[in-house]
Amino acid sequence: MSTTMTPPSSPSPTSSPAGAVAANPPAPTWSKGLEGIIAAETKMSFIDGAKGILEYVGIPIDDLARNSSFEETVYLLWNGRLPKRAELEAFTQELRGNYELPAGFVDRIQTCPKAAAPMHMLRTMVSSLSMYDANPDANDIPTARKKALAILGQTPAIIAAFDRHRRGLPFVAPRKDLSFAANFLYMLNGKEPTEAVTRAFDVCMILHADHGLNNSTFTARVIISTLSDMYSAITGAIGSLRGPLHGGANEEVMEMLNEIEQLAKSQNKAPMDIIEPFIMDRLARRNEGARIMGFGHRVYKTIDPRATFLKTFSKQIATDTGNLKLYEMSSRIEDIMKREVGAKGIYPNVDFYSATTYHSIGLKLDLFTPMFAMSRISGWAGHVLEQLDGNRLFRPTTKYVGPHDAPYVPMDKR
Ligand SMILES: CC(C)(COP(=O)(O)OP(=O)(O)OC[C@H]1O[C@@H](n2cnc3c(N)ncnc32)[C@H](O)[C@@H]1OP(=O)(O)O)[C@@H](O)C(=O)NCCC(=O)NCCS
Repeated sequence: MSTTMTPPSSPSPTSSPAGAVAANPPAPTWSKGLEGIIAAETKMSFIDGAKGILEYVGIPIDDLARNSSFEETVYLLWNGRLPKRAELEAFTQELRGNYELPAGFVDRIQTCPKAAAPMHMLRTMVSSLSMYDANPDANDIPTARKKALAILGQTPAIIAAFDRHRRGLPFVAPRKDLSFAANFLYMLNGKEPTEAVTRAFDVCMILHADHGLNNSTFTARVIISTLSDMYSAITGAIGSLRGPLHGGANEEVMEMLNEIEQLAKSQNKAPMDIIEPFIMDRLARRNEGARIMGFGHRVYKTIDPRATFLKTFSKQIATDTGNLKLYEMSSRIEDIMKREVGAKGIYPNVDFYSATTYHSIGLKLDLFTPMFAMSRISGWAGHVLEQLDGNRLFRPTTKYVGPHDAPYVPMDKR
């Protein structure tokens, strides 16, 4: 409900609101879903949706995925340049110094119901980290940056601790000699991952780190623009990310692949044989809101460059881990979608092949979105730091479409 007191004499969204203080306030523009509206400046990521380009600080995402590490990528996003060797070493050590959870925090995680969804647990636990910070409200840039590094460093332990708790397994303490990617997988599984699996996971972390003013990043910037605090901004962003139209889509891709397999089994057919009718049926029900998950994007009207990289990568990891079947099913779905709706600009997005990649690595379905969050905390925090540096409160306006001059009808006459 709008709280704007739009007077009856100024119903047009382009006229000046009564009582405005600015001499020449900009004429309001209306765009459903804020499509096409520039709402912030950033130096972190650049997207050209028509050409399928994504760059972090000017460097193509493909180059970073091939050559960088998640730690180096975070340094790049937060500092606007690649680190020198000693700088990367110092940054990595600082991040590793934050792997440990505050005293008593693991007990807190272990009081969560085992049946809780990991994204709900994560949102609640990241929020509660603020209570272990002696000065959670400090928003000066150096302190806010330290908070960002702490949340980023601690999140893997939160997710791993919860997953082990629900499996009835004891907590595995973090290891500061391991990279961000390797340490998470070690804490989750209780054994060091192979180099190939660590690399695959590290690449997924790089590809998900930042992506312009997506819904969760916008949420983080909106929250910090009130000069709230880093914890609230990241918590709000986690809440946004879990929606199926945003980060929750990677889980839905996997569910769709599972559904195809189940359906094929019930019909005594091979999954590859029922993909075509399955997809065509969903497309036919598009007007009822049916979607092929992992396809389409508000910004990209061609293939998402992260999906291009992940496609090749997921084939490799699926081959290495003997999970080629899901990759082949995904590839078939992509061909059908290209033929049917490619002309409308509906192509695979980052979630489509990340589902197969995460599955091949051995991650459980409901950990896919927490993995996205674990990486994206770097982007959210970077945007919070940008917002704090020259902040202006976000306060858009509404287009009032209700009645005016309505009578107040006494209770017994309604
Ligand atoms: C991401 C998404 C929300 C973008 O939505 P949007 O920019 O608002 O685009 P719309 O939902 O208005 O879709 C535009 C058209 O493409 C169709 N479309 C978009 N994505 C589709 C999909 N995944 N499957 C089938 N049709 C799709 C819509 O039905 C609509 O068709 P119409 O013109 O015949 O009505 C949307 O593509 C979607 O729901 N994708 C599936 C979820 C997903 O993968 N999300 C992760 C994003 S990274």
